[in-house]
Amino acid sequence: MKKKNNGFIYCSKILGTGSYLPEKKLTNVDLERIVDTNDQWIVERTGIRSRRMAAPGEYTSDLALAAAKQALSQAQISAQDLDMIILATVSPDQVMPNTACVLQKKLGARDIMAVDVSAACTGFVYAFSIADQFVRTGVYKNILVVGAEVLHQYVNYKDRETCILFGDAAGAVVLGRADENDASEVMSVHLHADGEISDLFVLPAGGSALPFSQEVLDQELQYVKMKGREIFKHAVRTMANSCEEALQHNNMTAEQISWVVPHQANLRIIEAVAKHCSIPMEKVVVEIEEMGNTSAATVPVALDKAVRDGRIQRGQNIILTAFGAGITSGSVLLTY
Ligand code: ACO
Repeated sequence: MKKKNNGFIYCSKILGTGSYLPEKKLTNVDLERIVDTNDQWIVERTGIRSRRMAAPGEYTSDLALAAAKQALSQAQISAQDLDMIILATVSPDQVMPNTACVLQKKLGARDIMAVDVSAACTGFVYAFSIADQFVRTGVYKNILVVGAEVLHQYVNYKDRETCILFGDAAGAVVLGRADENDASEVMSVHLHADGEISDLFVLPAGGSALPFSQEVLDQELQYVKMKGREIFKHAVRTMANSCEEALQHNNMTAEQISWVVPHQANLRIIEAVAKHCSIPMEKVVVEIEEMGNTSAATVPVALDKAVRDGRIQRGQNIILTAFGAGITSGSVLLTY
């Protein structure tokens, strides 16, 4: 039995990662033709140059499927070997059934638990923590964790403050059991939520509080509404705190961290978090330029890209950190 198992039977580790970005690009120049904005403003304020848009008929479950297949292949297991599927999303194929069950069918997985997690941009970190618990307790061995979004359906392309930010993508990991002497392991997970400031980022309509009606559509309440400047402050505070909490919990310093993989909401937010935590930007995975903010998908997509291009290596200490509507936030500290 491993030492750092926090009283559990096993430790978990990442067995494989995957990601998928739809083909269609929506560039800043494209947006210049739709709303009163310009490439220079968007790049300077956000670091984003283009974002992806799912094709008509391409759903969140399809993006998730493509990312999941890659993660399974890298983990060298088949969909039949999965014991659980957790899918983090705020843009499910439909409200019911959950998209994890749609993914289960598309993957050809067995009769296993399949559930969606809704925690906006922190969704992947929340989902990851649930999977971690099921592996640690020995209940399940191989768990697929996916963050997938088709956000463009919830964006008002007349609102220049939001439409420049969001895109569609999916990222996935397979979390499994670490061997007794394995260097790779998930060391700790720290999660938070502050419902007192839940009004900062909302999708007003479509739930039981405000079902769809002609009035809703006339007032364009089917689209996200955001208090950008306020969110910016909380994003920096919560992600920086989560990183520091993870380091303190594990008695580690920033120097012992090889990579931070933060939620990709805005390059300036990422830079401010790195500065707060005294982590040089060379150790931060930044993938926002060509994908924008893809909510629950940003962390697993950025992780997968850094794994596949060799930045992230086995044995390195990594922090994943995210914040999102709720306001939710959290971090994972792991040895990859
Ligand atoms: N193009 C040109 N000008 C714009 C645009 C645009 N797309 N959007 C706003 N402006 C204007 C504003 O109207 C304002 O003009 P004014 O000074 O005449 O009033 C000016 O630019 C400055 O606006 P600010 O809101 O102060 O700009 P800021 O530097 O704060 O950047 C931004 C705005 C990019 C939205 C930033 O606040 C941000 O990134 N916030 C966080 C957003 C976020 O992460 N949302 C998702 C969080 S939750 C999740 O990830 C699911």
